[in-house]
Amino acid sequence: MKTALLLASFIVFVFAQQGPITQDFQNWLSTNGYSSDDFVRADLGSAGSYGGRNAPTDKVVKNPVIFIHGNSDAALYYNSESTGWTNSVKYFLGKGYTTQELYATTWGDADPLNAGTRVHDCATLGRLRRWVEAIMKYTNATKIAVITHSMGVTLGRKIIQGGSVTGDNCNLGPSLIPNVDTYVGLAGGNYGLCSCEGGDAFISATCNQKNGFWPGDSCGLNTLTCGEVPLTFPCDPTSVTYSSFLSVLNSNNAKEAAYLFSAWSIADNLILYEDQVWGRPTSLIRNSTGYKQYLTYTHMETKELTAADQYNMVVYHTVS
Ligand SMILES: *[C@@H]1O[C@H](CO)[C@@H](O)[C@H](O)[C@H]1NC(C)=O
Ligand SMILES: *[C@@H]1O[C@H](CO)[C@@H](O)[C@H](O)[C@H]1NC(C)=O
Repeated sequence: MKTALLLASFIVFVFAQQGPITQDFQNWLSTNGYSSDDFVRADLGSAGSYGGRNAPTDKVVKNPVIFIHGNSDAALYYNSESTGWTNSVKYFLGKGYTTQELYATTWGDADPLNAGTRVHDCATLGRLRRWVEAIMKYTNATKIAVITHSMGVTLGRKIIQGGSVTGDNCNLGPSLIPNVDTYVGLAGGNYGLCSCEGGDAFISATCNQKNGFWPGDSCGLNTLTCGEVPLTFPCDPTSVTYSSFLSVLNSNNAKEAAYLFSAWSIADNLILYEDQVWGRPTSLIRNSTGYKQYLTYTHMETKELTAADQYNMVVYHTVS
């Protein structure tokens, strides 16, 4: 009897870590007009999405946590390159969170070969904004937590800020800041990426000057040396002209959450240059409540191996 119970709870726990979003949430999304957004992403199997009640009587007690992944990643583990939020979901479930309190969907096609095509546009931002709104309506939550990685950091900040989208033609609606208790940005390119300076801004869409990760081509007398540590000449990074989308995002002085956290690794193998862009960490979101710098993690490990820190930021509003 005891063994059967143990086995039953083990099975529930294992299946609890798998997507896609539950039938109850899928039904709710169809009856509430979200079918065309395809938040299920069945094309990626069980990795396409996560979250929702299993039974209509399941209660949402904690502030729902919404995870937004980066360029070419997926909601949950899809393959060794697109590892999703599986580790974080496991960790939060182990700490007493339920499937109806944890949410992720996939944006993009989870194919790193197409990473260069992705920009901060209305199609991507509008769909993710509807995802956040849908979760708030479905759970009746007035407060949420948002955990983001890589390009998900800058997409997520814009979704929360709301308003019109620089370089594209849409309005995301009112600010959601009053509803966000905690926002966590892991390894974001908030001031652009140095691999996007110079000609790369024209070759790769994701590096473009309008709504990509262009970091600007000079600061003071420094030219095309954005990742130099230290910079050869003095420079005021606040005077740099960089991606219009990112500079508008950063010039909005309103914090995206009551508790805003940033974290990054100086060994990040995608951002490179110890995370520095014209002498400041590109992953440090302005006005952060707290931040953490890892010494050895890769770009993906900064998401995969930091679930305990993510949890402490969301639940205790602390960084250790
Ligand atoms: C949200 O509120 C509606 C209407 O009161 C209710 O039917 C639904 O069960 C609630 N959802 C949750 C997750 O509590
Ligand atoms: C964010 O920082 C800027 C510049 O330091 C400051 O002017 C602004 O008031 C801050 N915003 C909040 C909400 O603390």
